[in-house]
Amino acid sequence: MGNPVDGEPVRVEVGLGDRAYDILIGSGLAGRAGLEIAARMPGVRAAIVTDENVAAAHLDAFSSGLASAGITSTPIILAPGERTKSFECLEEVVNGVLSARLERRDIVVALGGGVVGDLAGFASGIVRRGMRFVQVPTSLLAQVDSSVGGKTGINTAQGKNLVGLFHQPQLVLADTDVLDTLPEREFRAGYAEVAKYGLIDRPAFFEWLEANWREVFAGGPARTRAIAESCRAKAEVVARDEFETGDRALLNLGHTFGHALEAAVGYDGSRLVHGEGVAIGMALAHRFSARLNQCSPDDAARVERHLSTVGLPTRMADIPGGLPDAERLLSYIAQDKKVTRGALTFILTHGVGQSFIAKDVPASEVLSFLWENHPG
Ligand SMILES: NC(=O)c1ccc[n+]([C@@H]2O[C@H](COP(=O)([O-])OP(=O)(O)OC[C@H]3O[C@@H](n4cnc5c(N)ncnc54)[C@H](O)[C@@H]3O)[C@@H](O)[C@H]2O)c1
Repeated sequence: MGNPVDGEPVRVEVGLGDRAYDILIGSGLAGRAGLEIAARMPGVRAAIVTDENVAAAHLDAFSSGLASAGITSTPIILAPGERTKSFECLEEVVNGVLSARLERRDIVVALGGGVVGDLAGFASGIVRRGMRFVQVPTSLLAQVDSSVGGKTGINTAQGKNLVGLFHQPQLVLADTDVLDTLPEREFRAGYAEVAKYGLIDRPAFFEWLEANWREVFAGGPARTRAIAESCRAKAEVVARDEFETGDRALLNLGHTFGHALEAAVGYDGSRLVHGEGVAIGMALAHRFSARLNQCSPDDAARVERHLSTVGLPTRMADIPGGLPDAERLLSYIAQDKKVTRGALTFILTHGVGQSFIAKDVPASEVLSFLWENHPG
């Protein structure tokens, strides 16, 4: 996997031809963002989209860093939480960028977690028919997943991420130090997406995580290594299948169940945050695969054991406050965008690191499985 060299950021390239870009991972990158941006995009001005939590901890230092590299910036500060991925907040960001009189070649910077990244990315893709965009992810989830790959968007009453664009950033700066202010629950939720890469097709990485997860949580080289390995995994898939016409769908392991559970709690982050939904979703996807005789019950138990060892929820019963019945959960699944002409598409698995795309999964099987696993 390669150890990060002390002090030097790890560079991972997302190989998309003339739209290729770098992901830099390491300590102190947020403070150096101005220099990194000015070197690649001289003369730009910036809008910094962020949320109140991230602004309180990092905005001043970040915007001074931009200013010292000659980049003037306008902050746009939003309420934190999943509900911010809405049409109302999209309008707020669009108005903020236009009021700052930014041009097409200026940049929108997303300084925040996946919510800010998805929303700011979408806004940058539509303002003036597409502005330049820089991701400065501040949550573990955003550093290993949402900031890479160009998927942007918002939620609607019908479900998650149903309105959006593919719009690649010009640069991703993942500063491992900013994770020190991230609440532990959010760090853990992001870890679900790290484990996901092992479960998709990197069994050795999953095994490494089983042995080293404490060091990843503690920080230092193991954390940088886990983030870099995750970004490499994501970058490879994105370079192969940018628009998800093929195996990029594997990245949705755990997400079909997870998104349905998020919708079922009305995106109430006090009950379930995205990464926790993914953790339960991955445990369910393995259990469902075992039920369909695709995967051994031992592998399903192993996955559940690791996720619960790090403190993640793995069962629907772990969500506080009760859930709608199984039929209703199925209707949320059917609304999810990974449904093609009514047939249910799931990411299933033959075992740890052996995920595959299963089309035409019968809804009746899903429904029975949901009833069996429903907390009642
Ligand atoms: N575009 C993609 O490819 C993709 C992939 C995965 C997930 N997502 C999306 O990402 C979102 C989830 O992202 P998330 O888990 O980062 O949620 P988030 O953006 O809501 O951040 C989680 C919480 O942590 C706070 N926070 C973030 N960084 C912080 C820091 N350094 N210090 C203190 N507080 C900090 C935020 O204010 C928020 O309260 C979901 O909407 C999901 O759909 C998108």
